[in-house]
Amino acid sequence: MLGIILAGGTGTRLLPLTKVTNKHLLPVYDRPMIYYPLETLLKAGIREIIIVTGKEHAGNFMALLASGSEFGARFAYVLQEGAGGIAEAIGLAEPFANGESIAVILGDNVLFDDVSREIADFRSGCRIFLKEVPDPERFGVPEFGKGGDIINIEEKPNAPKSNYAVTGFYLYDSTVFRKIGMLKPSARGELEVTDLNNVYLREGKLTHGYIKGPWIDAGTIDNLLTASNLARERKAKRGQ
Ligand code: DAU
Repeated sequence: MLGIILAGGTGTRLLPLTKVTNKHLLPVYDRPMIYYPLETLLKAGIREIIIVTGKEHAGNFMALLASGSEFGARFAYVLQEGAGGIAEAIGLAEPFANGESIAVILGDNVLFDDVSREIADFRSGCRIFLKEVPDPERFGVPEFGKGGDIINIEEKPNAPKSNYAVTGFYLYDSTVFRKIGMLKPSARGELEVTDLNNVYLREGKLTHGYIKGPWIDAGTIDNLLTASNLARERKAKRGQ
């Protein structure tokens, strides 16, 4: 399975930290943020990874991560011009996918679960991963039907229909690129990952799992600090 880390976007919620650098290069405790999603993919055995980023800081990602040999993997870099949305960024990896399924992780998502079983078991459709959160209105939010199945996903709803966030870790089959090609930009001018996931849902091809350990979207200043503190605690525990 091909891995894709999305590290584009503008990072405006972290200004002025992101005035001269990219959000995913900021420190989360003792390592650049992008190391965390990278480790999630590497731990799961993914060895071919595409990093999508904007042209302003692409050189910094290459200087930091290089060919991937240091990580026992192979990296390739793809430029997203502008911030046309998460689904647009995923679509840019199409030439590398060769009909394979893809594992996508947002570059600001920090989680420590071992997802190798999920990846090994994935066959087709789309699989998303949920986490219960106190502030679902900040995320993609699933609505559950009576049988416990997801019946809709809303992006940053004012009145969330559940207390779950759709995390930024997604598995897609090879039909993903055709589906992205059919999406229309949202009101904020982006191709939304939530719209993409809803396309799979309407086709009856969306399944979901849960993130069991901590999950943080480190894209706000408080969450960046929370992620650093968590990484520090985990490192201290491992050192005991
Ligand atoms: O973290 C999970 C949430 O991520 C999901 O629950 C939401 O459904 C999803 O839309 C997303 O929401 P955010 O508001 O956190 O998205 P953000 O714009 O911060 O983008 C998340 C990452 O995706 C960011 O680290 C960089 C990457 N990205 C984003 C955009 C808009 C790109 O690579 N290109 C883009 O054009």
